[in-house]
Amino acid sequence: MRRGLFITVEGPDGSGKSTQIEYLRNFFSERNTECLFTREPGGTAIGEKLRDIILDRNNREMCDMTEALLYAASRAQHVNQLIRPVLEAGGIVICDRFIDSSIAYQGYGRSLGDSVRLINELAVGDCMPDVTFLLELSPKEGKSRIEENGQDRLEQEKIEFHNRVFEGYEKIADLYPERFVRIDAGRDRMTVKKDILEHMEHILRDRGF
Ligand code: TYD
Repeated sequence: MRRGLFITVEGPDGSGKSTQIEYLRNFFSERNTECLFTREPGGTAIGEKLRDIILDRNNREMCDMTEALLYAASRAQHVNQLIRPVLEAGGIVICDRFIDSSIAYQGYGRSLGDSVRLINELAVGDCMPDVTFLLELSPKEGKSRIEENGQDRLEQEKIEFHNRVFEGYEKIADLYPERFVRIDAGRDRMTVKKDILEHMEHILRDRGF
């Protein structure tokens, strides 16, 4: 029986996700509430190695299904080695990207469709997030926030790819309204922060943390 609280943070590239996760870290530390912060792809030693392969700009020949399977492989390791044990012990986990990233980026962005959900169901089993924050930002605005130089293999993709990713996120959020908290990420970062932290206070109170 799982007892903990599993929260994921999702959003397109440039949505300010990393900044908001840093605010969440401070929030938890000031509240003295223990919480495991982790990220995907990565989160474990094996996962970080897979991350390097997936995001390497030199891996131009990687086919879409390889990419999807590598993300799912990294996730399977992450769930089994790190996330599930913490949740079973009653802890809180906050994960920067999870299954919805694969559905949005590989399922919609790469147009691999429902196969992505299927391989990811194998990877995560019953370990699904309780709450998912979705930082919503138009792809155009997202892309303009990312500098050309530091872009990884996924960020380098054309605007059409990012449009499909955005549409994918919207569809998933419509499908699971009870799990998703939609955040307008087009506002200034302090307003976004306030919004997220208010939701977080409620979530923690409701779950007895
Ligand atoms: P990262 O540098 O962590 O980007 P961000 O700060 O935006 O999270 O790189 C992760 C990239 O991998 C990002 O472009 C989204 C992509 N991604 C997928 O395509 N599928 C996935 O399942 C995951 C977890 C990430």
